[in-house]
Amino acid sequence: MRAFKLSLFALASAGLSAAVSVGSSITTDLGTFTLTKGAACACAKLSRSFGGVISPNGANYTLQAADRYWDVRADLSPACIFLPSTPKQVAEAVSIFESCNAQFAVRGGGHMNYPGSNNIDGGVLMPLEKLNKVKVNADTVEVGPGLTWWDVVVALEPYDRVVIGGRMKTIGVPGLTLIGGFHYFNNKYGYAMDNAVSYDVVLGNGTQVTANQTSHPDLFWALKGGANNYGIVTKFTLKTYDMPKVSTTIQVFNESEIPKFLDAVCEAAKLDDENPIAAGMVATVQYNVTTKVIDASLLGVQEGEWESVLETPKQMFRVMFSMKSMKPDAEVLYSIYKAWKEGVDTIADIQGLYPTFVTNVASAPAARVAKTNGIGNVWGLEAEPLLIWQFSTGWDLAQDDLRVEAWSRQLAEHLHSINVEKGIASEFIYMGDAGEWQDPFAGFPTENVARMRSIRANYDPLGVFSRLNWGGFKLGL
Ligand SMILES: Cc1cc2nc3c(=O)[nH]c(=O)nc-3n(C[C@H](O)[C@H](O)[C@H](O)COP(=O)(O)OP(=O)(O)OC[C@H]3O[C@@H](n4cnc5c(N)ncnc54)[C@H](O)[C@@H]3O)c2cc1C
Ligand SMILES: *[C@@H]1O[C@H](CO)[C@@H](O)[C@H](O)[C@H]1NC(C)=O
Ligand SMILES: *[C@@H]1O[C@H](CO)[C@@H](O)[C@H](O)[C@H]1NC(C)=O
Ligand SMILES: *[C@@H]1O[C@H](CO)[C@@H](O)[C@H](O)[C@H]1NC(C)=O
Ligand SMILES: *[C@@H]1O[C@H](CO)[C@@H](O)[C@H](O)[C@H]1NC(C)=O
Ligand SMILES: *[C@@H]1O[C@H](CO)[C@@H](O)[C@H](O)[C@H]1NC(C)=O
Repeated sequence: MRAFKLSLFALASAGLSAAVSVGSSITTDLGTFTLTKGAACACAKLSRSFGGVISPNGANYTLQAADRYWDVRADLSPACIFLPSTPKQVAEAVSIFESCNAQFAVRGGGHMNYPGSNNIDGGVLMPLEKLNKVKVNADTVEVGPGLTWWDVVVALEPYDRVVIGGRMKTIGVPGLTLIGGFHYFNNKYGYAMDNAVSYDVVLGNGTQVTANQTSHPDLFWALKGGANNYGIVTKFTLKTYDMPKVSTTIQVFNESEIPKFLDAVCEAAKLDDENPIAAGMVATVQYNVTTKVIDASLLGVQEGEWESVLETPKQMFRVMFSMKSMKPDAEVLYSIYKAWKEGVDTIADIQGLYPTFVTNVASAPAARVAKTNGIGNVWGLEAEPLLIWQFSTGWDLAQDDLRVEAWSRQLAEHLHSINVEKGIASEFIYMGDAGEWQDPFAGFPTENVARMRSIRANYDPLGVFSRLNWGGFKLGL
């Protein structure tokens, strides 16, 4: 009887109708979920402690559970949504999730594209957008996880300083920094993670710690590429650099020029100057299956006018990523492109098909930064050139989700297996380019993965970030 009354109170204070009880089905504008004991408990406690918790019928529910996401597939139906405004509230919320045994998801900039990585059906969604403070120091900047790279660029501009962050302006600072971070200038300064000098972290038991080179150095290392396996970062302190003069170039290529284009990408991957000029690019091929027209474009940025930063409009498509990496070899890369183009023709009937072939380079000098800075990162890459090839496929309808995934996965695995036979494959997987079916940890050095697990056992013995916050790229039990 007592339990019954408590659950009614719980639901009423979470803003849900009092007629709803644990085990019943709740339909929102975005889907249907069954109310669990954990979610009912956490939503009620959050509501009592902080107020302002958004329920499925509350204002801004769709804004928070759908509109803030880049990929339409990531829209889900949380049981309630709590937006903390201080690190202390994040810590209290994590303690509530743990004590209620409640499933939860955390959102930064909302760009990780697959469902469950940053949103949740029937659990608690915790967007971090109110943690939006930024403080500029002499050679670092302190950034809240609610900010995007554009916010940081704007804050630094009056000081003529830059950070090594994302290439597109609307990507979130937290997700990108925790998974690695490809920027135009990696070859000179390393990845975004290599430029983080301190992290404020809320651990699974609600304790707040600072991880830097002298305080919790093991956690400091593990956060450099270890994604959301250790805690919630409430502040990143990032190195800044004098703003370089930058030149940009946008080049467009037609189909007959694709071999030349792919060759140029491979050559860029191999660049290994002793004192590199910071330079990078975004290289993509688009195929219109209706008109059969291929276009390739290369946006290059190097030191020496300030880049135009690109927007990434949200909620445009459903998108599937699949990626693999290899030693740069223009001829093989061209054969992969050709197989992709032929493969696209086999799914040409899919409504709204928007296929792109993307290449990315991980150069030797970029890897050398972590090898020589006395800190390292979880990737442990050798100072050797790598080329990442990716299928980024957009489409319209949920009914084609499994078909697109199967197509993309099978093609990528098949082409990768040919590279394995040729001896030019690399098992390196970048979480920012990978599909949900891929396991990035399998490509890290085994000793690094073992160390990551032992650090996780020390910092999250309760398994809050594997059992309760299970979405995203997880180390596995
Ligand atoms: C259009 C587009 C362009 C891209 N361009 C680039 C690029 O140029 N370079 C590059 O490196 N990557 C790029 N990416 C990949 C991008 O870095 C990842 O998707 C990254 O996860 C986005 O970060 P976010 O904060 O926006 O993501 P979110 O989806 O909010 O978060 C990603 C993951 O991190 C977790 N998380 C978020 N905040 C925290 C926190 N404070 N503490 C602990 N865990 C947290 C989330 O729960 C989620 O699992 C791109 C992606 C897209 C869609
Ligand atoms: C809804 O979200 C907007 C945009 O973040 C905000 O300004 C407004 O205060 C929110 N309304 C409620 C009721 O939370
Ligand atoms: C690391 O953080 C601790 C605790 O905030 C601080 O006292 C120390 O100065 C920091 N060390 C470095 C190297 O920044
Ligand atoms: C492709 O571009 C090249 C260089 O601009 C040009 O010479 C060639 O005619 C073009 N080919 C087609 C089919 O448009
Ligand atoms: C392909 O071209 C057609 C005709 O120009 C256009 O309507 C369609 O939007 C294009 N598709 C993509 C994915 O760009
Ligand atoms: C919280 O967890 C950390 C890491 O495991 C541990 O050092 C600390 O003692 C714990 N704090 C409490 C209050 O249990």
